[in-house]
Amino acid sequence: MKYGNSGLQGVQLTGVGKAVPEFCLTNDQFAQVIDTSDEWIYTRTGIKERRVLALDETVLDLALRASQQALAQAGLVPEDLEMVILATSTPEDLFGTASLLATRLGATRAFAFDLTAACTGFVFALATAAQFIRTGSCGRALVVAADGLTRFMDWRDRSTCVLFGDGAGAVVLEQSPVDQILGMELRSDGRNAGMLNIAASGPEVEIREDLTIRQNAYQPISMNGREVYRFAVTAVPDVIEKALHRADIDPHTVRHYFLHQANQRILDAVAERLGVPRECFPSTLAHYANTSAASIPITMEEWITQGLLQPSELMVLAGFGAGLTWGAVVCRWGRVA
Ligand code: COA
Repeated sequence: MKYGNSGLQGVQLTGVGKAVPEFCLTNDQFAQVIDTSDEWIYTRTGIKERRVLALDETVLDLALRASQQALAQAGLVPEDLEMVILATSTPEDLFGTASLLATRLGATRAFAFDLTAACTGFVFALATAAQFIRTGSCGRALVVAADGLTRFMDWRDRSTCVLFGDGAGAVVLEQSPVDQILGMELRSDGRNAGMLNIAASGPEVEIREDLTIRQNAYQPISMNGREVYRFAVTAVPDVIEKALHRADIDPHTVRHYFLHQANQRILDAVAERLGVPRECFPSTLAHYANTSAASIPITMEEWITQGLLQPSELMVLAGFGAGLTWGAVVCRWGRVA
């Protein structure tokens, strides 16, 4: 089936889901183990508590639950899916976790792959899936974003460990007679990759007298918070303005800006730079902290479940993070009537 003069398909977003671990770690509980306080964390970031994976729980478990909820909302069964993209920086297996996710889900017709773009992973994965649908090579896709960054923390480094939590979100994309994705702008710049990373490194191991190799493992997350903050408050408004310009939409006509949830002060600063009221920037930071790629679909799910985002309403989805990577998508929520 082909739609429109160009022969290309449109895309619609028809289901959303989220999953977070049950265990909740509050700022006050943190203050009992490291030199910090609820007052410092909350005033600097807007975070009150975060969810942490239990010992016997995995990122894959969260991804599966979020995917099942998104499919149920879309009214689809797993066999309807033709593609699954898992945006994650913390896969259960470095070779990829998406195919295992698709199999556990029962998405027997889908091909699946991981995509890594740190906290911008959801936006990049959504944009990628949309292109497959637009060209007609795929009719129904599932975009899942899941991260377990608490497993990659130095829990003695108070400037990073208080900022992150674990979680997953998922969105179903389908062919549509009307394209609900109206504009996008994606960016990356490796010059400042060192500002925020989980580096691979390790000791030299002598295999033979004439052969020494390096045996890598991942180091805890390392971040220059001030520089990342400066990057976010300039790069994010810029990319949002460009995506809106492509869609020929005035920033003031959008009531929902779903930004990556890293810091309340970043959300407020982006709102100010765009000249848009702060209330247009949904925040779930207080309860979940920074869940990396998962934060945008988690926040979308909460707004949709509470009836705060209605079908066909305009929204901007914008991510930013390590790489450095950043990007924005302008779209409408829901199935085309
Ligand atoms: N509790 C108490 N004190 C803390 C602390 C904590 N958890 N973490 C750092 N501090 C201290 C620092 O040691 C420093 O003390 P000093 O002045 O005696 O050296 C002081 O607080 C100020 O530190 P600073 O780093 O300047 O704070 P800040 O106002 O820049 O806030 C961040 C730090 C991390 C909250 C802020 O830079 C930020 O949010 N950056 C963006 C990070 C981000 O979003 N990353 C993810 C992007 S995807």
